[in-house]
Amino acid sequence: MVQTNERWGSRVGLILAMAGNAVGLGNFLRFPAQAVQNGGGAFIIPYLVSFLLMGIPLLWIEWAVGRHGGQFGHHSAPGMMERIGRGRAWKYVGVFGIFTNLAVAAYYAYIESWTLGYVWYSLTGAFAGQSAEQVSHFFSAYLNIGSGHFLNISGPAILFFLITISINIYILSRGLAKGVEIASKIGMPLLLVFGAFLAIRALTLNAGEAGAVNNALDGLNFLWQPQFDSLTNPKVWLAAAGQIFFTLSVGMGTIQCYAAYLREKDDIALNAATAGWMNEFVEVILGGSIIIPIAVAYLGLPWIQANVGFEMGFRTMPTLFQNWGPFLAAAAGVAWFGLLFFAGITSSLAMGQPVMAFLQDEFNLSRKRSALTLGGILLMLSAPCLLLYEMGAFGEYDYWAGTFSLVAFALLESIAFAWVFGIDKGWEEINRGADIKVPHFFKFVIKYVTPLFLLAVFVGSLLKPEAGNWAAAFGSLFSGGGWPFAADSVIGTVLNVGIAEKRWFIDGMPTQIFILNMTRLLLLSTFIIIGVAVYAAWRRKGAKA
Ligand code: ALA
Repeated sequence: MVQTNERWGSRVGLILAMAGNAVGLGNFLRFPAQAVQNGGGAFIIPYLVSFLLMGIPLLWIEWAVGRHGGQFGHHSAPGMMERIGRGRAWKYVGVFGIFTNLAVAAYYAYIESWTLGYVWYSLTGAFAGQSAEQVSHFFSAYLNIGSGHFLNISGPAILFFLITISINIYILSRGLAKGVEIASKIGMPLLLVFGAFLAIRALTLNAGEAGAVNNALDGLNFLWQPQFDSLTNPKVWLAAAGQIFFTLSVGMGTIQCYAAYLREKDDIALNAATAGWMNEFVEVILGGSIIIPIAVAYLGLPWIQANVGFEMGFRTMPTLFQNWGPFLAAAAGVAWFGLLFFAGITSSLAMGQPVMAFLQDEFNLSRKRSALTLGGILLMLSAPCLLLYEMGAFGEYDYWAGTFSLVAFALLESIAFAWVFGIDKGWEEINRGADIKVPHFFKFVIKYVTPLFLLAVFVGSLLKPEAGNWAAAFGSLFSGGGWPFAADSVIGTVLNVGIAEKRWFIDGMPTQIFILNMTRLLLLSTFIIIGVAVYAAWRRKGAKA
């Protein structure tokens, strides 16, 4: 095996890269949507509890798994999991840590490319003087959706996507210190400046001023008014835990990869906590203070509750900025979409690095060849997300890779760490070289609470009942009516619950269910192919040894 001698250039660079990995589109687009859909203040308490009992412990676990694997020359999940799981079969659990990155990057980079396109459109004044309908229509036209065409092909969307992928691949090909680290050192501070500008503007918006009809602070109150009864609502817990996963990038294999470039005695306890808390600051303080307050100021809470979703950032925000006059509108557009772009790219780079590391460590590919290979795979894998966006391929990627796989991998990883590697060795691993004293209470949490929490989230997502109503579901089960799976539960998704049209073709044209099933098949095949690649790499190494 070629031992890479790549290392982080500085501690600040490492922390900014790790924070950049976590801070992403999820902080600014997904978090506000989840918070609104789950009752605002009702969401925040389960969210913070999930952060403390699941998020923070998983950060420590993943940094420790990564640094440990790195000592044996493994910078991607298969080799690391074999080390931690102390058995050959565990490397196949590590397949998740390659698969998730590829499949998430495939659709994530697409959204990232919209933000780049929208920076351009904001700069060139494309939204000036447009009505709300026109701005929303602009987005549909940009993605070529709602046009009645089967394939969503739009020249600008494809162009900006290719530019985005090329920038990612170029940065990755420059290596860790000269590529990822520099990008994070530029991107993260700019993101904070843009975010602060927008948050201050948002929170000083009062009714009657700049076209606002409500006080922006009403939006903040909605988010921060605690509602303790939500603690007993499993639906809100599942959503909160899902957001913690996505926003921290745990269960992906990115954190482990970045941590693998540390030295044996470099601190991980304080670094992990710093990056994690930085992400939370950006998410709940900045992420919570932009889109919701501005939209509440102009459109009111009921409108947002009815229309919230991640597309709102593109369909609605540019119109609202127009109320601030031509100069501020353009500046706000550049700040908003620029912020999203920097948030996105520092995360997509982190998704690319484990794949690069896998190709470099296990197949001896040079950095440049690994980067080009990654680019090729990403182009192929993202094609369905681009071309079949409207038919649901994009959503399918998000569901299986961006939601389900994270939990499955984290569950297995936490068991491997606390129970197979062993909590005593694990605890020693977390605390070696630590610059803080991790409270001993977390040893107990990592051993029992986090795996059980993850198990509950996993089982909950498998069985989630219709409307999230567990009491009614048990009632139905015990009265012989069967379990009413929600359409977005894992089992409900596999069974295509909620899709009335079950035929694959109508008049020779593929139906949505066909596209969804084929997308699933493609994702499953990708997982299997990575598994075969792991098998082949180990065989090759075995033959050489
Ligand atoms: N953690 C990244 C985000 O929040 C993936 O977008």
